[in-house]
Amino acid sequence: MLENIKIRNFRNLTNYETNLNQGVTTLIGRNGVGKSSLIEAIYFLSIGRSFRARHDRDTINKNIIGSGDFAQIKGTITSINQIKELQVVLNLDESLRLSKNGNINGANTKLSEFVGNLKSVCFSVNDMDVIFGSPSERRKYMDLLNTQLTSNYTSELLTYNNVINSRNALLKRIKFNEANKEELGYWNEKMIDIGSFIIQNRYQSLQQLNSISNDIFVKIFNSEHKGEIQYLPSIDFDDNFQFGIELIRDHFKSQLLQSEIKDISYGRSTIGPHRDDILITIDGGIAQNFASRGQARLLVLGIKLAECELIKQSNEEPIILLDDAFSELDFKNQEYLAKFILDYNQCLITGLDFSVVKKMGIHTNDIVMGDYD
Ligand SMILES: Nc1ncnc2c1ncn2[C@@H]1O[C@H](COP(=O)(O)OP(=O)(O)OP(=O)(O)O)[C@@H](O)[C@H]1O
Ligand SMILES: [Mg+2]
Repeated sequence: MLENIKIRNFRNLTNYETNLNQGVTTLIGRNGVGKSSLIEAIYFLSIGRSFRARHDRDTINKNIIGSGDFAQIKGTITSINQIKELQVVLNLDESLRLSKNGNINGANTKLSEFVGNLKSVCFSVNDMDVIFGSPSERRKYMDLLNTQLTSNYTSELLTYNNVINSRNALLKRIKFNEANKEELGYWNEKMIDIGSFIIQNRYQSLQQLNSISNDIFVKIFNSEHKGEIQYLPSIDFDDNFQFGIELIRDHFKSQLLQSEIKDISYGRSTIGPHRDDILITIDGGIAQNFASRGQARLLVLGIKLAECELIKQSNEEPIILLDDAFSELDFKNQEYLAKFILDYNQCLITGLDFSVVKKMGIHTNDIVMGDYD
């Protein structure tokens, strides 16, 4: 669990520290006091980026930009017999270039190894992008999920992205007769190798997420609607395809070779996990086109709660971060959510109305931010 958090120059939190307890913690304070920023900082410590900022630099306190000062989030996490000090620092140099550095127990750590040390699931109004956003938003979601389930996923993904960049550069050179087509072999092998690992991980995690979410959807949709989540890989696989690593590689290889001429003429890699998507449906229709606002909200809620269960089953309990999560739910679903979080070790909630939690007699630790009465 997260025992303590210390924040410097992150959003409006120039100097903030608090201890955290087990159970449900409510963050109380007036609009704009920094409740969501605190949630965002904890999430940043977990995933290495924000859930709401388009650019990391937007989270740095705007008054320190150009001053040489930096933003810092420090957290102490404890598990069964381990204490870890996590720290992430965001720094803008004189030419306003951003650096982001992770540190565990005093030792600098590559960000790809830093992320996932503190497990978390965050639910906020921004999550609607998973339904209504572009495929890249849904890929981001898949990657986030897998980052928390498989420790080397993030570093493999980074390598894969580098491979794609190199392959694309080579494709362009081949197109303009500056390089030989045979040179593609090297990058193809790498792309198939790492890409197959990514495909297998995405398939397995979404398969599990779907099966857990089915039960949750029955409850939140009151059995009136059916939600489904399905992996939509860019490589074609038959309906009953068994996602064994060798089979994935064979399929990937043959389709990559078939697309080579097209790739050269486009000057980029047209197939592969960097083009994957997730299919989210409600009653069989694509949610992006058919879900009502409220239904989309419930689909996201179901997916996120399934994510909590999946992370809990596969390694350790995530800290649940609910930023204004109750506000758009009907009373029954507010109740369902409140009951759900009771099964978890640690949950932080923000909002302006905690009446459901109070009405259900749930004990809460209250953190008051700013002046509030
Ligand atoms: N980069 C930044 N530097 C300084 N202040 C910022 C920065 N980004 C946002 N802020 C400010 O930080 C304050 C806190 O925002 P936050 O979203 O955390 O508030 P909140 O307590 O969640 O409010 P609400 O109840 O409205 O959701 C706001 O006044 C916002 O304008
Ligand atoms: Mg807020």
